[in-house]
Amino acid sequence: MAMGARLCCSSILFVLVVLLLAATTMARGGVTSSFWRKSEATEDMPMDADVFAVPPGPNAPQQVHMTFGDKDGTAMTVSWVTMEEAGNSTVMYGRATDKLDMAADGNHTRYKYHNYTSGFIHHCTLTNLERGVKYYYAMGFGRTVRTFWFTAPPKPGPDVPFRLGLIGDLGQTAYSNSTLTHYEATGGDAVLFMGDLSYADKHPLHDNNRWDTWGRFSERSVAYQPWLWVTGNHEIDYAPELGETMPFKPFTHRYPTPHLASGSSEPYWYSVRLASAHIIVLSSYSAFTKYTPQYKWLEAELKRVNRTETPWLILASHSPWYNSNNFHYMEGEPMRVQFEQLAVDARVDLVFSGHVHAYERSFRVSNVKYNITDGRCTPVRDRRAPVYITIGDGGNIEGLANEMTQPQPAYSAFREASFGHAVLDIKNRTHAYYTWYRNDDGAKVAADTMWFTNRYHMPNHDDSATKQ
Ligand SMILES: [Fe+2]
Repeated sequence: MAMGARLCCSSILFVLVVLLLAATTMARGGVTSSFWRKSEATEDMPMDADVFAVPPGPNAPQQVHMTFGDKDGTAMTVSWVTMEEAGNSTVMYGRATDKLDMAADGNHTRYKYHNYTSGFIHHCTLTNLERGVKYYYAMGFGRTVRTFWFTAPPKPGPDVPFRLGLIGDLGQTAYSNSTLTHYEATGGDAVLFMGDLSYADKHPLHDNNRWDTWGRFSERSVAYQPWLWVTGNHEIDYAPELGETMPFKPFTHRYPTPHLASGSSEPYWYSVRLASAHIIVLSSYSAFTKYTPQYKWLEAELKRVNRTETPWLILASHSPWYNSNNFHYMEGEPMRVQFEQLAVDARVDLVFSGHVHAYERSFRVSNVKYNITDGRCTPVRDRRAPVYITIGDGGNIEGLANEMTQPQPAYSAFREASFGHAVLDIKNRTHAYYTWYRNDDGAKVAADTMWFTNRYHMPNHDDSATKQ
């Protein structure tokens, strides 16, 4: 072969090797977004902000919110607060505003927290809802009546589409307001909320008036669709220095969960079946080691999942198991050690978390081979394993978590320190389109999109390795 031809072949070979190496690197490596916000002090909106306005009228119901009242969504629990007197806890509901022909009776509670006394907190469960039907509902009878509406969730089934909103660590700053406005524009059918609601505990004496402002702020969405609550560390409100030693006191009085319907002994871990998804909520701040109620419940619950009926299996916990931000680094590790093998064995599709005030998505990875003596402690690509998404970026008083570990670990596919929200658009039993929206100074921008494929129906498809 002539020298020129040999050189030509070598050059082509060299270019091919370079291209191959580049492609391999691209396929393997994650991305740290170049979109970079500086961390600024964030303040809660002032108490007289319009989004906190008390609804007009004597003893008007306020802070209206709803969540699942049973496991499958044929019941909804509606909650609200009256400030002047208890009034009654009845909800009238029906298919038209002038035909509220069904009634449900609830009850009310109050609590004291240090120098604060709550209003009258009402809870009322509407039952026998027909699937997919729009209902109007009203409360406040005898004084000021307010009317809202919602659509009952569809009957669970393998190809039932659903748009699930994903919000975490929301708080009540101007950024929180942007996030909620953007979510409303996105238009999900329900929200899986990843914990840390009001951040009232960041104020002196855990000022519980900030629970009330948060309730009035969030009403514009959660009075019209169910939000599923994960419990965060800012819900603990354990403050012995204030004489407050009952963990989760404000949260449990205000925000019920349907835990009894899924056989859970505590409100902090439970499950629901929503359209084609089985959603399991875990508690980072309750005992979860082997033999504890949460561990035993999760073990049993995973056996109850029927993937032919609800192919999408989703877990949620406040503290992320995979997080490469310096903030809260490794805090989720104890739960990962306890639960990851269960999640991999169950072929969980997605694990959502909050807590870290930034956004991160992992590849499909697992770290279940490590057994403390074998040294195999590096997460590896694993098509059986979930994708982990941290979405604690609602925009709260603590600001952004914008210090990431360097270099970006191999398990991390995409990370960015911005506020935002996401939506999981489940299309059918095999595909779901996922979008994370960054709050971008007034507009919302789709900054991370993925087609996820189902671990039960497409177990060998590696959907997490490449952008699609
Ligand atoms: Fe948190």
